[in-house]
Parts: sequence; structure tokens; C-alpha cells
Amino acid sequence: MAGLAKTGMEWLQDPLSWLFVASVVFVEFSKLFGAFNIGDFFPWLSWADPQGINVRLRAARAALDEFIDKIIDEHMARGKSPDDVDADMVDDMLAFLPEAKPKKAAGDGGDELQSTLRLTRDNIKAIIMDVMFGGTETVASAIEWAMAEMMHSPDDLRRLQKELADTVGFDRNVDESDLDKLPFLKCVIKETLRLHPPIPLLLHETAEDCVVGGYAVPRASRVMINVFAIGRDAKAWKDPDTFRPSRFVAGEGEAAGVDFKGGCFEFLPFGSGRRSCPGMALGLYALELAVAQLAHGFSWALPDGMKPSELDMSDIFGLTAPRATRLYAVPTPRLTCPLVADVNVDEHNKWISMLPACMLRLPLSI
Ligand code: HEM
Repeated sequence: MAGLAKTGMEWLQDPLSWLFVASVVFVEFSKLFGAFNIGDFFPWLSWADPQGINVRLRAARAALDEFIDKIIDEHMARGKSPDDVDADMVDDMLAFLPEAKPKKAAGDGGDELQSTLRLTRDNIKAIIMDVMFGGTETVASAIEWAMAEMMHSPDDLRRLQKELADTVGFDRNVDESDLDKLPFLKCVIKETLRLHPPIPLLLHETAEDCVVGGYAVPRASRVMINVFAIGRDAKAWKDPDTFRPSRFVAGEGEAAGVDFKGGCFEFLPFGSGRRSCPGMALGLYALELAVAQLAHGFSWALPDGMKPSELDMSDIFGLTAPRATRLYAVPTPRLTCPLVADVNVDEHNKWISMLPACMLRLPLSI
């Protein structure tokens, strides 16, 4: 959540706004993006919109538009300059919008900036939407799956926790500078993205006639790439359905050289080529840091003495192929320091130790 402040969406930290957007708008968009739309398969039927999907899409879009307009208006009213220490991503973009002049820097380099690049209000809205959609559900879904897979495979959780204890120690939390020293963490993340790509189906359109695998594909055909199925293809992966991060470990696993940057076609969680994910670095950073902090900060147990083998690992249809049942897990503090700075460690641990009573629901508590 801390990252939201710099993106200009700290208003999402207001519980009521967040509840509305998360429970109404995001959920509705997620359902609609993942819905089976008859018009996609029989385009001549799409004008009739037999399932009412287009009507719902327009309504969800209007609700989201209203929210994003509010963010932009609030930022224009406060008139921060990109140089202000508390300026965020929206303030940065407003510097390129002709009708928004920062109060403090009036007459200053604003015109100069706008002669290099001009953005319209719609451009800024589109970028905010990209960050909101690209960077929230994808990362949240992957964090929940990573934790669920490790609860289901406790040896892997223990191996990751040992790596964290050896590298970071128990007297502080993991931070960004540790991430490059945690090779097993990277393997856990890769294995999670292989089995549970947050965007399981990529939708593209062919730009020209082509032949793929002996099939002639005409220009302007809609192409769906099933990244989920590719990641579990038995021809490309040994034990394809097993969560086994060690397959990626250098010098140990058979898939050590396989990466997700778009060149290994058996592993495409971020897509490939010009339309691949532009937020890969940010998404990975958020994902790695969250999983590392959860694994390092707490010992984890399943509720009511549930065995790992009893954990439901099924998924359901939807934009991010989410878990069919939410993950519930009980944390116990592991560190000798508080997770938040400037807090008394005893008070902090007392507070955390109350969590098992109310059961931590992972995605909402992150
Ligand atoms: C674990 C995290 C993430 C995963 C797995 C992921 C995956 C993907 C995938 C598979 C695509 C579609 C590629 C294609 O169609 O070939 C995509 C597109 C996109 N992603 Fe991400 N993404 C993640 C995080 C982010 C973040 C953090 C942002 C921005 C803050 C972001 C912004 C976007 C945008 C704007 C597109 C559309 C690109 C285009 O249409 O050209 N993503 N992402």
C-alpha cells in the first residue's frame, strides 16, 4: 500500500473509497474481462450483446472514469510542482497537461516541459488506469498463489525462510537491497508465475497474413495465447503440475536457464515482444518484496490443524485465474525487531500475536 502514495492514488488508502473501488468497480471489471463473450466468437452477434456484457462494461467504465476524474481534479487543485518532495506520479504527468499549471512553479519551466511533450486529460487517465489495473490484481493474485503454494509445499517455505534467515538475519526486515541476494526467492516467484500466470490468456490480433505451425492465419484474426496451458505443457516441463521452485535453481534444476523476459516461449507470464508487459520490473519488485517480507516476518500455519495436503489448490475462471477459495493462514512473528519502524517490539509482537485469533486473510491485509 505504501507504494500507492507515489502513484497519486493514496486516496485508495481511504477505507471507503478503497472498499467501493475494490468491491464494486475492480470486481466488476475482473468479471467482465474474464467473461465468456459470445460476441468474441461470433462477431456478427456482437451488436445484439446477448449477455449484456457491453452494457455492464460501459457502466463500469463510467464509474471508474468518475473516480479518476476526481484524482486528477484534486491534483490540479493542489497544484504541486513535480519538484516538490511530496509530488507523486499524477503531479509529474500534470506538468505536461497544458490546462494544469503548478501553483508554485508558475511561469517556470512548465511551458518548456509542454513544448517537449503534451498530454491530454485522456492520456493521463489511460496511464492511471494502466497502473491501477496492470499493477494491482496481477500482483495480489501472484502473492496469494505464492503463499498458498508454499503452505501446500512446506519444504519449499522452509528453504526460503532459511535463505532469508542466512542472508538478512532475524534482527531486521527484508528490504529492496536484499532481493538480488535471494536466488531461491526468485525461483519461488518464477514457479508461481509458471503455474499461475496472473493473466492466463493473452488476446492479440494479427497485423498481417501469416502461417503458424502449418496453419494459415489471415490478417486481423483474433489470437488467444493460453499462457496457463503453455506453462503446464508436459512437452516443455518435467512434472508440469507440481510446484517445484528448485527446477529453476542454477546448477540444480533442469529449467535453470529458462526466464520470463519473452525469449523462452514455454514461459510467458509477461507476454513477449512489443506488447509484452511494460510494468514487469515494478510488478516483480512488488511481488518479490511482499513474498519475502511475509516469509521472513512470520512462521505460517494452516488454521484448525489443517494438513498441507488438505489445502484446496483449485482455481476458478476469471481475469487472473484466482483461487477458488481464499487462503487463510495463521502467522506467528519470527523477527526480533518490529516490522514497522519506531514501534516498541513487545507491543508490536503482542499485537501481531492477536492475529491468529482473527485469521489473517492474505490479499486484504497486504
Ligand atoms: C506480476 C505482475 C504482472 C504480470 C504477471 C503482468 C503480466 C502482463 C501480461 C501477460 C500482459 C499482456 C502481454 C500481452 O498481451 O502479450 C501485460 C500487459 C500490461 N501490463 Fe502487466 N503484468 C504485471 C504487472 C504490471 C504492472 C505493475 C503494471 C503497471 C504499473 C503493468 C502494466 C501493464 C500494461 C499497461 C499492459 C498493457 C501493455 C500493452 O497493451 O501494450 N503490469 N501484463
